[in-house]
Amino acid sequence: MSDDAPARGLDDDLCVRECERCPALVDSRSRIVNGVGPTDAALLFVGEGPGATEDEEGEPFVGRSGDVLDEALREAGLARADVRITNCVRCRPPENRDPRSEELANCRGYLTEEIDRVDPELIVPLGKVPSEHLLDRDVAITSTAGSVVEARVGGAARRVLLCVHPAATLYDRSQREGFFEAVAEAADLAGATEGTGGQSRLGDY
Ligand code: URA
Repeated sequence: MSDDAPARGLDDDLCVRECERCPALVDSRSRIVNGVGPTDAALLFVGEGPGATEDEEGEPFVGRSGDVLDEALREAGLARADVRITNCVRCRPPENRDPRSEELANCRGYLTEEIDRVDPELIVPLGKVPSEHLLDRDVAITSTAGSVVEARVGGAARRVLLCVHPAATLYDRSQREGFFEAVAEAADLAGATEGTGGQSRLGDY
């Protein structure tokens, strides 16, 4: 997998407006689901790809997994609007299957461009698929969640905090505490709550 994959081409809002690179995803999507949040966010979460609710609403993590992420952000003193949230692929895979390696590769340039341009302090891949995609190696996510690694992503060396997918907390309640701790650690490492007194940065504006 190469970081000079050809799919660069985000607009000024870091959005892809048109793309037909993955025939199966073009068939299954209702729309392209772009990243949301500040374009200079200190903290960037990267999921796998849109599910049914995200495909319907056009925003990442707005279904049940998103509710868990929002709750963990709130507990960490952040609002959803304080962080950037995106996905490895921007179109919903059919029947919520994992994105295929060629689909991940087709979309990689968009993701690395987004990372280069946002230039976050910390990246948090949510789950195994985005962790392996960003680090370009196998990741035993359950045993390594919570650890921070350095990785070259796009044009720079990045700090990456490994984390389980929020959906894991829904089917295995015992993952909840670790997930919430990882999000709190991410907020801390990124300095995302600095100067907020534990409140959302949005209160400043
Ligand atoms: N799961 C993901 O990985 N991404 C989303 O946007 C929603 C659920």
